[in-house]
Amino acid sequence: MPIIQTEDLTYLYGVGTPFEKTALNHINLSIEEGEFVGVIGHTGSGKSTLLQHFNGLIKPSAGRVLIDGKDIWEKGANRQALRFSVGLVFQYPEYQIFEETVYKDVAFGPRNMGLSEKEVDIRVREAATFSGVEDSWLEKSPFALSGGQKRRVAIAGVLAMRPKVLILDEPAAGLDPRGRDAILDRICDYQRTQGTTVLLVSHSMEDIARIATRVLVMDKGSTAFYGDVSTVFSHAKELLSMGLDVPQITRVFMRLHEMGLPVQPSIYTVEQGKNEILRVLKERET
Ligand SMILES: Nc1ncnc2c1ncn2[C@@H]1O[C@H](COP(=O)(O)OP(=O)(O)O)[C@@H](O)[C@H]1O
Ligand SMILES: [Mg+2]
Repeated sequence: MPIIQTEDLTYLYGVGTPFEKTALNHINLSIEEGEFVGVIGHTGSGKSTLLQHFNGLIKPSAGRVLIDGKDIWEKGANRQALRFSVGLVFQYPEYQIFEETVYKDVAFGPRNMGLSEKEVDIRVREAATFSGVEDSWLEKSPFALSGGQKRRVAIAGVLAMRPKVLILDEPAAGLDPRGRDAILDRICDYQRTQGTTVLLVSHSMEDIARIATRVLVMDKGSTAFYGDVSTVFSHAKELLSMGLDVPQITRVFMRLHEMGLPVQPSIYTVEQGKNEILRVLKERET
């Protein structure tokens, strides 16, 4: 059974005002447990609006959202429990930080879940390790930390709830490349070791190609594509015509293919590119 499903999910902002805007238009989506979904699309394509539906922050104007097969807006549905099982990290997660110490901040979620102080402590330390929050920061004020460090604290605060689904809306926006790679690598490790379902919005096709198992492409409030990474990047021409990018290596192989070389055009990592060239060379020898 899919962990996340939407049925004809539609959402309008500012209903009945002159600013009425259809942000999501009949989205039908089915995401299996354990996937790492890279979410891409232009600014304004509906990525954030879609993701905020998955933990019940936004209520559909029409259609349904099902988590673990249950309609989250059905009468009697427990939406507080949903906030613990579907963890959402916003684009500028430092705005999620508000406690006087890093420890208290990371402990906020598990405390709200009603866990014992001993269990809270285990959760805080575990989440801190996963997110790269150092022990020496725990008793400091989070406001004394750098931007990248604050972001790790915010991510730890969500991980401490051990969510079944982890949603990250451009979690590395505005960080330098080293800080960005460090955060993405940690999310990747976490996903691999915990088997959590992860949805990650990123503008970097290189990052998506490297870490995602599936790609969701949003375009003007609709899903343009949803499939495994190679299938989606094999639509490179359509992605480019939507004004989106594809990994550089994909461009290289598309061009080689256009030039008549017998290579597959749907290559999206350098490693695959290397193997594809070796395969073609080998075929020539025989
Ligand atoms: N709070 C809001 N009020 C009115 N319109 C909004 C609001 N948030 C987003 N929108 C509009 O909804 C559409 C989708 O926005 P959003 O989900 O933020 O897209 P993305 O995350 O892909 O940039 C855009 O046209 C945006 O202008
Ligand atoms: Mg957004």
